[in-house]
Amino acid sequence: MRVVVAASARSAARVAADLVEEFITASPSPALGLATGETMEAPYAELVRRHREQGLSFAGARVYLLDEYVGLGRLDRRAYRNVVDRQLVRHVDLAPGAVHGPDPHAADLDTECARYEREVRDANIGLQLLGIGANGHIAFNEPGEPLDSTTRVVTLSRRTRADNARFFPHGRSPAQAITQGIATISAAARLVLLACGAHKAPAVARAVEGPVTAEVPASAIQLHPDVTVVLDPGASSRLTERVADP
Ligand code: F6R
Repeated sequence: MRVVVAASARSAARVAADLVEEFITASPSPALGLATGETMEAPYAELVRRHREQGLSFAGARVYLLDEYVGLGRLDRRAYRNVVDRQLVRHVDLAPGAVHGPDPHAADLDTECARYEREVRDANIGLQLLGIGANGHIAFNEPGEPLDSTTRVVTLSRRTRADNARFFPHGRSPAQAITQGIATISAAARLVLLACGAHKAPAVARAVEGPVTAEVPASAIQLHPDVTVVLDPGASSRLTERVADP
């Protein structure tokens, strides 16, 4: 595992964007795994800037979402497909049909999860971006879920719902989501986990330096052969070992 502590959240976002840029320019048809959330706003904005100002092209790429809320309308701004569309997809030259995600409106969600699991496995994700929840979740794999999990419907923890409540000021945040499992995520060739802010420091320390345990789903990254963890100083503040310069 490589741990990069950047000088600021801004420069951590640039490091993550560098890794994505290297990846998508190295292959004619890259399969990129996207995470959603506040942490990803800055790297996506940086990728959009590079597309506009430096000609970075996503033309051959396919992108795959990690997860999606269940219970929101198709046009709801908070649906992850719409978030990713606003923050990245509509601003770059991804081909029509290049964005893939689980459909939370499917008639049978278990069948849809099995379909998306196959789609992601067949895609052979080359680089998977990950955020981390303050409770140690990756995607929406919450504490206590098995480390060999695959794509499925999950019930979000109280902590995650409370953390996400900021995006749902006029109602309750969704209780359920479809998420890729830990085994699905771990099948990607390379994982890049980005975390910023001191509120993420305890989860980062447990994920990077603690025991591998279902209580900290992100700790499963320790078992992956190619992981880069990109942090700002706040998110790295509880690490005691394994810190490297950018
Ligand atoms: C979303 C996802 C989640 C987030 C995590 C951190 O696709 O995979 O695991 O990465 O909840 O969210 P933010 O970045 O909003 O703190």
